[in-house]
This record gives sequence, structure tokens and C-alpha cells, in this order.
Amino acid sequence: MTTPFSTIGVIGAGTMGAGIAQVAARSGCRVKLYDARDGAAAAARTQMADTLRALAAKGKLDAAAADAAIAQIALAHDLADFHDCGLIIEAIVENLDAKRTLFKSLESICAPDTVLASNTSSISITAIAAGLARPQQIIGMHFFNPAPLMALVEVVMGRQTDPDVAERIERCCETWGKTPVRCQSTPGFIVNRVARPYYGEALRALEAGAADVATIDLVLREVGGFRLGAFELLDLIGLDVNLMVTKSVWNAYFQDARYRPSITQEEMVAGGLLGRKSGHGFYDYPRPPQSPPESPEAGTAPTLVQYLTESDALDPLLERIRAAGIKVQSRKEDDPYGAGMLRVGNATLCLSDGRSATQIAFEEDLSNVLTLDLARDFARTSRVALARGEDTTTSAVADAVALFKALGIEVSLIDDVPGMIVARTLAMLANEAADAVVQRVADAAGVDTAMCLGVNHPEGPLATADRLGLTLINAILVNMQAHTGDDRYRQSLLLQRKVWSDGSFL
Ligand code: NAI
Repeated sequence: MTTPFSTIGVIGAGTMGAGIAQVAARSGCRVKLYDARDGAAAAARTQMADTLRALAAKGKLDAAAADAAIAQIALAHDLADFHDCGLIIEAIVENLDAKRTLFKSLESICAPDTVLASNTSSISITAIAAGLARPQQIIGMHFFNPAPLMALVEVVMGRQTDPDVAERIERCCETWGKTPVRCQSTPGFIVNRVARPYYGEALRALEAGAADVATIDLVLREVGGFRLGAFELLDLIGLDVNLMVTKSVWNAYFQDARYRPSITQEEMVAGGLLGRKSGHGFYDYPRPPQSPPESPEAGTAPTLVQYLTESDALDPLLERIRAAGIKVQSRKEDDPYGAGMLRVGNATLCLSDGRSATQIAFEEDLSNVLTLDLARDFARTSRVALARGEDTTTSAVADAVALFKALGIEVSLIDDVPGMIVARTLAMLANEAADAVVQRVADAAGVDTAMCLGVNHPEGPLATADRLGLTLINAILVNMQAHTGDDRYRQSLLLQRKVWSDGSFL
């Protein structure tokens, strides 16, 4: 595929601009690079050349290709040099007036069909285009950091962006080896909006006393299947940078409870506890290696498990139980606990439906209840999280732990909070993704692709929800909303519709 633009302008030679220039140059485009700060563009070009030559020295890149890419990058001395660019991408300071002023100047320099793209992560593309002569030519190209490595580009449509312009930009992204996902200009676009619950739910679980920071991260990684726990990720991003994004989305949605920031995070930012960059955040740095916690005391290995309420989400676990040689007896209860329930020894294990174990015991008239956190993949999980109800005996806990020990699965015993850790996280990610779809920010496949490529989630939130069962996902939200009274957990219209029609997102 040939690139729709042969000469590209990149304005702002900081972290993002330098990365974008490198991507374009490596694909054979001629690139003009400019920065308002004297020497900045030249320094970025030198740095880029060093990086490409180092890659070539390591054999990761052909030396001739590295030299060719470097030769493609020219330094622009002022904006007039951009007169022959078919596409200009700005990656300057995140400020509406600065971006609008820049585009206004470029409109008077460039040909009428030049596309002006912004790499903004939080400013409305519609607002940037306001007052410009050719708003149909203004579009968002939201690259992720580091641009040379991250495959996703959110192609952001302002209210007046011409769909033909979007198509050319998408083709351009593809020739650069990127995966474009089209979305409407709305606060946070796709990724910065749909990812909010990942941090928000972990912070709320912490504030509710579910477990300590390290345990929540461990459960998110090993039960939830996420590459990094939410607190490790917050420390990496910087608590201040992440809080700024949260606040920007929260304010842009008129302080919708969905995006409400956390007091814990606010307090830590106020105290300069910003994560890795300040040496202290949710962890201290350098972070001493920690041995994994021991599973709680186990009772005698079981020979029989009763599967009292079958559920799609639990079925893979039952397969593992059978494969371990433990007899599974399916026995339907008259008035079953809906989400999935099994009995082992004295323990009644209920897959989390967003209620606490104590609440389930009380409302369903069950004894010795433990809730089992939703795992992304019970067929493969190496760990589960359990919570015991107030009246659950220690021997029932030991019976439940013995089951997982027999399967070679580690157990984290957490406090009895509604929605546990993973269940609330997966449900809220799916809910946010569903709302983005219903509001036409992007289509379902686009949202899932963006979440996999933009924040490295192992599977899109909608695909996960389809696989685990939308009735369960909905129940978690309904129960959490009832428990907390927090509008944050209100269910997306699309999720409700899919539940009522027995449909799926994808
Ligand atoms: P940066 O601070 O590293 O670089 C910005 C560069 O733009 C600086 O070199 C500065 O001298 C130059 N500049 C500022 N105003 C200018 C102007 N009017 N004309 C020409 N040059 C000007 O910033 P960074 O991180 O590269 O961000 C740039 C843009 O990309 C922002 O809009 C940001 O929101 C967005 N973005 C940043 C991401 C990140 O992770 N850093 C990720 C995705 C988007």
C-alpha cells in the first residue's frame, strides 16, 4: 500500500513529536520537523539517529534502512517550510489556544487540501477546529507513548471532519504499520475513557479495605490476567499525570460519578508521592523483591464437589476439578443462587455477583458462604481470590482452600467487600466500553481493539464480558449500585439491552 501523504510535517519535537517523526520516516515518508524552542528539533533528530543506529548495531534494524530513515528527516526553520506538506501533525503543548493558533497560521501557508492533525490526548478536535477556515480538514491522530512501539492510533473525528479525510488518515496509519481506530471527539476518546475504571475500582477496593496494595495488584495480575496491577501501573504512569487525566474526563462529563477521582490518589499527589519518578508511590523504589504470599491453611483434599448452580463462567473451573479426579455431582437447588455456586466440604462457594459473602448468606439463607472472585479465565488461572462471610467457619475456609490446592491454584483470602477485586473491575470496564459504543464514540470492535493495543489489556472488555456472561456482568453492577448507592455503577443502556435480548456485544 502506498502512503497517501509523501511529505509530512511534524510540529513539536518532544516525546511524541520525535516518535511520530521516526514512525513516518521509517515508512519512507519525507518528514519536516519543527519546534518553537531553539535547537529542540535538531536535538530530537540527533537522538532519533542514535536510537536507529543503536537498533541497527543490535541487528534489530537493517543499517541501510536506519540511514535511509534518518535522511528522510529535515529540520524546518519556520512554519513557511511546511507549505508543501500533505499532512501536518502537531504534538505541541497541550493547550487549546496554542493548537488553534498554530493551525490558523498553517491554513494560510498550506494548500487547501492539507490535512491538519492533532496528537492531543484530551482536547476536543471540534474545539480546535472552531473558527478555522477549513474545519473539515482538522482531525485527531492520537498516538500512544512510545509512538514507535505502540500500534494504536485513535483517529479522532471532530463534528466537522470530512469522512474522506479520516479514510486517508487511516490508510496512512496502516502504511506506517499502525492500527487506526476511528472515534468521535468525546472526552478521553476511547482508551483514556474506557480505562478509567481499571484505576478507579482498584482505588475503591483499597479504600473499602478489600486487601493491601500488593494483594490487589497480585489478584489483578494473576486472577484478572492484566499485565500490570493497577497500583504498579499508577506508579509507572505517575499518580499526578493519571489524576490529571481522570479529572479532565470527570470534569468534561460534568462530574459524572462514573469518573469521580479518588481521595487516596488526591492525597498522595498532594504529598508528592507520585510513583516511580519521586521514589515513592503505592510502592517504594527501588522496589525490593517480594516473595509471593502463602495461601491460607488448607483442610483435607476433597473427593467430591457439588455443583449447585451451573454457570458459563464457572464451567471451566469444574472441568479442572473433574480433570483432577475429584467427583463432581451436579445438583440443582430449588431456588438457586444465580451466579454460580458449588459446595465443597462445609464451604458454600459463590461466584461473586457483586454482593458480599455475608450479604449472600443472609439474603439466600446459606451457611458458610465464601465468595469467589471472577477470574478472567478459570481454565488457566494460577490463583483465585476468596472472601469469607462474617459467620463462615474457619474449617469451611480450609475446605475451600483445599479444593484449590488440589488443583494447584494459589488462594488469596481478601476482605468481604462487594464486587471483590476482579469482578468489579471487569464489570466496570465492560460497562464503560458499552457506554462508549452506545454513545457512538466507536463501534464495539474498535473499542476492544483500542483497549488491547492502547493499554495492553489481554482481551477487549466487551469480548471478555460476552465470554463470561452478560447476565453476570450486569448483576455485579446492579448489586454494587444497590450496595453503594453510587451512580458510578449504573448499568449502560446497551448492556441492559443485550441482557434482556440474550444478545452479545460482538
Ligand atoms: P513535550 O513537552 O515532550 O513536547 C512538546 C514540544 O512542543 C516541546 O519540545 C515544545 O518546545 C514544543 N512546543 C510547544 N509549543 C510549541 C509551539 N507553539 N510551536 C512549536 N513547538 C512548540 O510533550 P509531549 O509529551 O510530546 O506531548 C505533546 C502532545 O502530545 C500534547 O498535546 C500531549 O497531550 C500529546 N500526547 C502526549 C502523550 C504522552 O504520553 N506524552 C501521549 C499522547 C498524546
